[in-house]
Amino acid sequence: MRRYSVVICGGGSTYTPDMLELLCYSQKEFPLRKVVIYDIDEKRQAPIGEYGKILFWDYYEGVDFSYTTDKKEAFEDIDFAFVQIRAGGTELRNYDEKIPYRYGCIGQETCGAGGLAYGIRSVVQMIELIQDIRKWSPEAWIINYSNPAAIVAEATKRVFPEDKKLINICDMPTQIMDSYLPLVGKKRNQIEPRYFGLNHYGWFTGLIDKETGQDLLPEILKICKNRPQEVRDSLAKMYAGDKHWGGTFQEHLNMVLDYPYSLPSTYCLYYLYPDTCYRHYSSEHTRYDEVLAGRGSNVKKYCDAIIKLGRMKGTEYDISAHINAEAKSISEATSSTIAYNDVHAAYLIELAISIINNRNDICLVMVKNNGIVPNLNPEMMLEAACRIGKQGIEPLAIGEVPLFEKGLLENQFASESLLVSAIFEKSYQKLLQAFAVNRIICDTDRAKNILKDFMEANGKYWPEFTR
Ligand code: NAD
Ligand code: G6P
Ligand code: MN
Repeated sequence: MRRYSVVICGGGSTYTPDMLELLCYSQKEFPLRKVVIYDIDEKRQAPIGEYGKILFWDYYEGVDFSYTTDKKEAFEDIDFAFVQIRAGGTELRNYDEKIPYRYGCIGQETCGAGGLAYGIRSVVQMIELIQDIRKWSPEAWIINYSNPAAIVAEATKRVFPEDKKLINICDMPTQIMDSYLPLVGKKRNQIEPRYFGLNHYGWFTGLIDKETGQDLLPEILKICKNRPQEVRDSLAKMYAGDKHWGGTFQEHLNMVLDYPYSLPSTYCLYYLYPDTCYRHYSSEHTRYDEVLAGRGSNVKKYCDAIIKLGRMKGTEYDISAHINAEAKSISEATSSTIAYNDVHAAYLIELAISIINNRNDICLVMVKNNGIVPNLNPEMMLEAACRIGKQGIEPLAIGEVPLFEKGLLENQFASESLLVSAIFEKSYQKLLQAFAVNRIICDTDRAKNILKDFMEANGKYWPEFTR
């Protein structure tokens, strides 16, 4: 039996502990020989690394687990690189979200001005990281979660056009499926999605029952329309422990009711209801503050407690607190997670398993349009349903999309594509255009003001826009 080696880049990420625990659970389907976590921030990664040592000692015989800040040690002899870095760290996330509020528009990690600012840092660091991984492991599968994934995908498409083993993904569509499929009594491993859009700006067009071939989306939309309170209650129960995502899914349902013919991404809220989204936060308090106090501090406390104890098995930190060992599939195994995101690790590992077994599951990943949606720009990196196997990703055709979605997407593509060109060409003109054309920013003077503050806050994390 072949055993695989994995590096997690962004070892200090809040999502790493859940990923490590799920790797321990998945050992039958995804057998490992080596796991290394890699970060540029030694101090941030160390507690997760020390906790990881205890975890693997207790739950995974024969795996060589380590943590490092050394690239050679991290990237040599690797079969899979799972990437979840935050270029500039949480400190700059704070600016991404706060600065736009100074000028009256939404500050968000991946949408609008904040997403564009983060996009610049991410593109620069992701390209370097991919080149480093390829230097030591040219054949490794690189599966990237790092945001803003749409912008990262646009840049990696241009720099690594022939790299068939580089895949950009997002866990949001999976989370949406898990939120609405219970209405028709289904689990996501029973269905195949159909979806189109840019990342964090897309729509489900079908949810096909694998057994019967029936599309369940019309039935789900009918339930939303006819029995909205039932759906509201179901979502409220599901997200009872999480104010932010609980509120987001209530607003998501409102959006479904306004456009009751498809199931959009929750992130469409930022573009379609900017006034409501704007009111959630302020220049003093944004999602960054919530994450810092919530997921950020929980993960640190969790690792520190386990390090102090020196073991997990048989203690209150036993892996069974998060993972049901009796579960029939990975998608059903996580009962509660440390980062409060049940699908993040599961979706990634399901993808890896589909690849190693050439299972050709239909998953949503980012891929060059090239006719998937013939009435959208062929260069767009669409998030769409693809067969995933050893040969790589093969997209399924979607067909033409309506004018409303086409208009929104072409606008966003202009913004993201201009941004990537601005980075590569060091062009301030294109940078300004990327910001001004963005639906959430809208105004040239506002774009100039935001850019001025962002340049100061980002310092060396941004290239100089000299042309
Ligand atoms: P985090 O800030 O807690 O962790 C990110 C880690 O990356 C930090 O430890 C940081 O030191 C490290 N890092 C930064 N630059 C690096 C580099 N160049 N090389 C190696 N390590 C580096 O962030 P988080 O909230 O845990 O999220 C991690 C990333 O995953 C973010 O980009 C986030 O947006 C993304 N994410 C994406 C999805 C998705 O749907 N695509 C879902 C969840 C998280
Ligand atoms: C979802 C999105 C991600 C995002 C994550 C966390 O899973 O798909 O792209 O990074 O939420 O967002 P948060 O605001 O909680 O850090
Ligand atoms: Mn995402």
